[in-house]
Amino acid sequence: MTEAILSVRNLRRHFAVRGPFNRRIGSIKAVDDVSFDLMPGEIFGLVGESGCGKSTLGKTIMGIHRPNGGEIWFGGQQIDLLLAAGQRAVRRNLQYAYQDPGASLDPRWKIGRSLHEPLIIHTALDQAEREAGIRKILEAVGLPGTHLDLYPHEISGGQQRRVGLARILTLHPKVVILDEPTSGLDVSVQATVLSLFRSLRETFQLTYIFISHDLAVIRMMCSRVAVMYLGRIVEMGPTDVIFDRPQHPYTKSLLAAIPKIGGVRVTRDFWLRGEPPDPGNLPSGCRFRTRCPKAVDRCAREEPALEATGCQSVACFFPG
Ligand SMILES: Nc1ncnc2c1ncn2[C@@H]1O[C@H](COP(=O)(O)OP(=O)(O)OP(=O)(O)O)[C@@H](O)[C@H]1O
Ligand SMILES: [Mg+2]
Repeated sequence: MTEAILSVRNLRRHFAVRGPFNRRIGSIKAVDDVSFDLMPGEIFGLVGESGCGKSTLGKTIMGIHRPNGGEIWFGGQQIDLLLAAGQRAVRRNLQYAYQDPGASLDPRWKIGRSLHEPLIIHTALDQAEREAGIRKILEAVGLPGTHLDLYPHEISGGQQRRVGLARILTLHPKVVILDEPTSGLDVSVQATVLSLFRSLRETFQLTYIFISHDLAVIRMMCSRVAVMYLGRIVEMGPTDVIFDRPQHPYTKSLLAAIPKIGGVRVTRDFWLRGEPPDPGNLPSGCRFRTRCPKAVDRCAREEPALEATGCQSVACFFPG
């Protein structure tokens, strides 16, 4: 069996909620006991409503946030235990493309400087070697060399995304976390960016974690998908299986919310009741129960674990 390139075990990242005088009055469990394996070369989708913890999960894997618990394994090493210098060396292999493409580019720097900077930090290449590498990667992401002399505000959102990608790729990572890589792009640009991700995956032998709340894009791009709800994975499995035979009521309601051509929806029998609960004050037991049409007393007492049913895993006492 192929070994996972990245493994996440029982990962937690909680944020303190502070009241008057900066007193801690609670916590938001943005990532709460998340486990999965990422296989080499795959595109693993992470989907869920705004605020369910997708970006926090990506940033915690990347070391941008410190985990509150759990383990992150890469290449046989538990990377969250490494000291700072060791982490920097290993984390070069893992890169995170920010949800907001402008956020990773300094507005006062020309694109060229933004692309040189990671190479100055992480490698011993001289100016000419860096320049040659950058121009090659710029070409791979479909941007002309003349862009090196422009400022971020002088290029479009789609081009900023390509620059963000180029910046990551100069370091030759193995795993790239793409956070909402198509948000804010119009449909035609989306299509070209998606096919760019596919060809870059081939050229640079990349493995992607693909974060999106756009189910159509997830279906098109990902071989496997995990559905998150308030910090937890509630369902995970091959994309086709999840889309054709969702087992968790939350996945069913997400899919039911996709408008189909002619206004006909995929399923009519599930819908999301009410508002999501306050993430700082989660319901007891199953955190989806307050919006679930199937909820019974047991759901308020016990939290369902993510368990395999066939080729997918579901965290629900009444799957199907
Ligand atoms: N730095 C932070 N400090 C405090 N709370 C945070 C921080 N970052 C995220 N959160 C909270 O953690 C939860 C998860 O946020 P996150 O950004 O991971 O969600 P998301 O799934 O990426 O949402 P979106 O689809 O809108 O990008 C939210 O309740 C959010 O308010
Ligand atoms: Mg996000």
